[in-house]
Amino acid sequence: MSKTILVTGGAGFIGSHVIRRLVQRYPHYRIVNLDALTYAGNLENLSDIDDLPNYLFEKGDIRDEAFIEKLFEKHQFTDVIHLAAESHVDRSISNPLEFIQTNIVGTMVLLNAARKFWASNMDGKRFYHISTDEVYGSLGEDGLFTEETAYDPRSPYSASKASSDHLVRAYFHTYHLPVVITNCSNNYGPNQFPEKLIPLSINNIKNEKPIPIYGKGENIRDWLYVEDHASAIDLVFHEGKLGDTYNIGGNNEWKNIDLIRVLCRVMDAELGRPEGSSEKLITFVKDRAGHDMRYAIDSGKIQRELGWSPSVQFEEGIEKTVRWYLSNETWLNNIISGAYEKYYSDQYHKR
Ligand code: NAD
Ligand code: DAU
Repeated sequence: MSKTILVTGGAGFIGSHVIRRLVQRYPHYRIVNLDALTYAGNLENLSDIDDLPNYLFEKGDIRDEAFIEKLFEKHQFTDVIHLAAESHVDRSISNPLEFIQTNIVGTMVLLNAARKFWASNMDGKRFYHISTDEVYGSLGEDGLFTEETAYDPRSPYSASKASSDHLVRAYFHTYHLPVVITNCSNNYGPNQFPEKLIPLSINNIKNEKPIPIYGKGENIRDWLYVEDHASAIDLVFHEGKLGDTYNIGGNNEWKNIDLIRVLCRVMDAELGRPEGSSEKLITFVKDRAGHDMRYAIDSGKIQRELGWSPSVQFEEGIEKTVRWYLSNETWLNNIISGAYEKYYSDQYHKR
């Protein structure tokens, strides 16, 4: 079966892993990567596959209705896998409007285009919206997020993702748009922008700079290796039930401070530094406003119904991640100059 798939946000962290997987596994599909190349988008993430004949890049903004309609006209997409978003919670706290525009309005523009271009025949079409576990809010010591957990977003980022999820479901019920949604926990791995906890800490340890830990470091996240997320997306894209939601998680909860201690040990070993040197860089800083205490996903539904489970153990994943960052210095150095330095100084030097 041949498909022409619009993947939005394919130059970002998760999107680039999704594109690589689809382009390599399905040579009979055409994969069109639409990305605005914001600070988080980087075509270097795809330099190993960008000359493959079933891959095409289009630069553009999901908020631009006329452009998106032209793109649907030009490529006659059979499917959409929508990842493009503003994705960093701290940036949503300092600049919430950008998140409303990209994550809510941008998703609306794509939904409207799919509805318009697929109106005469929705058979075999699919609009797959990639979302986050943060829409469910914050857990206490016990419990897990299931697909039935009531939405309770608490940051501008998670509120914008929750809104987009509601709109995607509304288009299923109101217009019978063939949609599916997944809500995933924290991803880590190669190509993640060094504003997020793990790559930021790797970069700081490498440069012997303080590792900023918000509050007491007791917040908990459920970490999933990015290639495991990409494999789940592949599966839900092909076999997920239309109208349904699937939670994806790593079954791998870590307190931030414990995770950073593991990372410090791996970094010491990889850099050949005496054991304990990286831990000395840990610095507790002012907490994130509205900092969600704990996220943890029950991924029983996708395991039972589609047979997915994560394949990469955390110790293995963190070692692979550290090695990738240490052997891709040019990738990192191209990012951590100019705009990144300004962001870093605004975000951390005021704390
Ligand atoms: P990212 O920030 O690394 O990448 C986002 C990409 O979207 C970038 O390439 C950027 O250029 C592009 N983009 C941003 N605004 C755009 C616009 N207006 N038009 C076109 N392209 C635009 O994000 P990520 O971490 O790869 O996350 C991808 C998706 O997965 C997001 O929807 C995010 O909410 C979701 N998600 C992320 C995680 C995680 O841990 N990173 C977990 C669960 C869900
Ligand atoms: O849960 C899924 C979400 O995970 C995704 O939807 C988001 O796009 C993604 O950014 C991520 O959100 P988090 O806020 O959990 O990720 P981040 O890496 O920013 O932070 C992880 C934890 O580490 C969180 O408790 C805040 C803390 N932290 C983060 C940074 C950047 C620190 O202690 N210090 C830091 O400098």
